[in-house]
Amino acid sequence: MRRQKEDLKGQRALVTGASSGIGLAVAERLLARGCFVVGASRHEGNFAKLRAAYPDRTDYVVADLSRMEDVTRLIEAPACQEVNLLVANAGFGCFGDYRNERIDEREIQMVQVNCLATQRLIKAYLRRFDKTGGRILVTASAAAFGAAPYMAAYYATKAYIYRLCLGYQREMKIAHSRAELSLLCPGPVATGFEKAGDLKFQFKPMDVGRVADYALKKWFKNKAVIVPGFAYRLLRIGAKIAPDSLITKVTKKAAV
Ligand SMILES: NC(=O)c1ccc[n+]([C@@H]2O[C@H](COP(=O)([O-])OP(=O)(O)OC[C@H]3O[C@@H](n4cnc5c(N)ncnc54)[C@H](OP(=O)(O)O)[C@@H]3O)[C@@H](O)[C@H]2O)c1
Repeated sequence: MRRQKEDLKGQRALVTGASSGIGLAVAERLLARGCFVVGASRHEGNFAKLRAAYPDRTDYVVADLSRMEDVTRLIEAPACQEVNLLVANAGFGCFGDYRNERIDEREIQMVQVNCLATQRLIKAYLRRFDKTGGRILVTASAAAFGAAPYMAAYYATKAYIYRLCLGYQREMKIAHSRAELSLLCPGPVATGFEKAGDLKFQFKPMDVGRVADYALKKWFKNKAVIVPGFAYRLLRIGAKIAPDSLITKVTKKAAV
């Protein structure tokens, strides 16, 4: 287990999607820095190892974020009341073309988790943090920078949350909010994402620990949009000037 300066002692984080991947890696680092971490997702999964290592500084709320009643229950849970750090990270992807009926129900759930539950959480905590201060990190994706065939709905969910947060960031400035809101936009990362989405990345995925380290460093410097990896920072700039038809040619090769 990593040991770092306990600079987050006394702080309390809610991390959604903490059972695996990016959420788990972020939770591990917050705990190593002295923070109390409340995890949330449908199963405790690998967060159970963190609970064993930090029994006095961890809690878990089992919640299926594709169900709005679970999102409300999570926001109102006693464990989530004193939270001053939110990592809105739970999400997943789906692979398949528009003729594939098998993923229809899954796509609806994906919109609910990646967009609606995330939006509900962000707004609930922004309102709390407006006056008291507090930080929110939202896991969007480099997918937010363009469209992609075969993962069209997933890319669209990430563009939704990305643009939503850019809008909130401006609203927060106008309202002199004491809250901070950052967007994390990684390219492919080695996590449970491929298995959950029944897909295979064609580009080399980044190491999840490196992504979590970079995300936390930039989050605590109030960076508005955090893009791990030089290639993906270039991609973000390129996507602003390249024609959509070129982008969908490139993203067609992102996963199979
Ligand atoms: N890996 C990548 O290449 C990549 C790149 C860019 C962005 N992202 C984004 O990063 C975030 C984390 O994904 P990951 O890569 O770390 O994948 P992961 O290892 O599969 O983790 C996904 C997390 O989301 C949770 N989750 C999924 N469906 C849920 C639901 N209905 N209710 C509550 N929690 C749910 C999962 O927990 P349970 O199964 O226990 O519910 C799990 O903890 C996602 O938003 C994803 O879109 C991933």
